[in-house]
Formats: sequence, C-alpha cells, structure tokens
Amino acid sequence: MPCEVVVVLDVDTQEEALDIVGVCGDGGWFKIGSQLFTRCGPGVVRSVRDRGNRVFLDLKFHDIPNTVAHAAKAAADLGAGLCTLHASGGRKMIEAARKAVEETSTRLLAVTVLTSLTDAMLEEELGVPGTAAETVARWAKSAVEAGAHGIVCSPREIALVRAAVGPEPLVVTPGIRPAWAGQDDQARVMTPREAADAGADMIVVGRPILKHPNPAEAIRLIREELAE
Ligand code: C5P
Repeated sequence: MPCEVVVVLDVDTQEEALDIVGVCGDGGWFKIGSQLFTRCGPGVVRSVRDRGNRVFLDLKFHDIPNTVAHAAKAAADLGAGLCTLHASGGRKMIEAARKAVEETSTRLLAVTVLTSLTDAMLEEELGVPGTAAETVARWAKSAVEAGAHGIVCSPREIALVRAAVGPEPLVVTPGIRPAWAGQDDQARVMTPREAADAGADMIVVGRPILKHPNPAEAIRLIREELAE
C-alpha cells in the first residue's frame, strides 16, 4: 500500500477547515482533533466527509471500556475512517472499542506514550519503569493484540513499532517535515520519503502544508515525494 498523506485540520472554525480541504482537493484524508471538534462538534466531521473526504478523528479516547466502546461506535456512526484511543487504557478498553466498531469500516489507532513525555517523567511521575522506547513497543504490541488496527507513533519509533506489531497493522506518524519545510516545534522529524521507507502507512502533516504560501503546491510536492 503506498503511504498516504493525512492533512491536519488544527483550526478553530469550520470555515477555515473547509478552506483547507478545498485547497488540498477533495478525496483525501483529513485529521480532526480535539481543538476543532470541541469548537465545532460532529457537524464539522460530516461537512468534511460530505465533500468526499475521509476523516481521521483524533480524540484519543481514554475511559472505562463501556464508555470508550460507545464513543468508538459514535465515531463510526459519524463516518470516521480512523479514530484514536490511548493504549494505556488497557486491553479491556481496546477490546470493547474493537467490538463496538466490528461491523463498521472504522479503524482504531492506539496512541502509546505521548512524545511529550520523557523517560524520567514516565518513571518518576507516572511510575512506568524502563525507557519510553521499551514502553512504546510493549504497549503497541498489547494494543494490537487487544484489537487496535494500528498505532500512532513518532517517526523515530516507526521501526520499533513495526518490529513489535508485525507487517499488518497500520503505522501512522506525525512529525513529518519535507526537506523544503522548516521544523517548527517538532524536534525529531523525518521527511515523507524517510517515514515511508521506515515503514509508515500514513503520514500526518500540518504546518508544512497549512503555512506554505501555496498549500496546494505543498501537498502536491509531498504526494510526489511519496510516489517516487
Ligand atoms: O503541524 P504539524 O505537522 O507539526 O502537525 C502535526 C499534528 O500531529 C498535530 O495535529 C499534532 O498535534 C499531532 N501530533 C504531533 N506529535 C505527536 C502526536 C501528535 O505532532 N507526538
């Protein structure tokens, strides 16, 4: 499967979101996270979908299994193609979510250790021993065994996640910067080509497209790089 681009819709209004969708051309993947969803609600997901696009609903569910199952079913009913939950919610939570979306086309992506957490924070604040990389690999494997269809991870974790979960599950990564783009606040980045070569199925890209003087050209360049 060729690596696909997911364009981030981290904006405050439906108008801004639909402007970006229009510029990128319909028929692609767009990520709606807690910023846009909390501002605009489920209607914005429908609006993006109604134009023939697919939605990655990034709300990172983390709650008791029954609640997450109902939330995952709600995401599926809304037509989200991808939906995130936290691997740290445990196997029962993921199993319940998987059961809830079983008859739908919605795929569940597990988020392992947030990249904002360091080894020291994991150990000292959260009581999770070992390195973050070890925890990422362990939680990724466990999440997939419990029913997650894929994993969201940073580019530098692609190889270890792939090794932990095998070839089938989706591996989706943000932290992407084409060679022609600045790094913004992303510390460890990969180019689209590097991420695809490392084993990513989908790359999540925001500012390199949104802040480009010609966003349509930016997405064209990224797609071209992935097709090389
Ligand atoms: O603008 P940029 O390409 O950095 O956007 C990346 C997107 O991926 C944002 O929605 C950001 O919240 C998300 N993300 C990330 N790093 C993570 C997890 C999510 O950049 N570790």
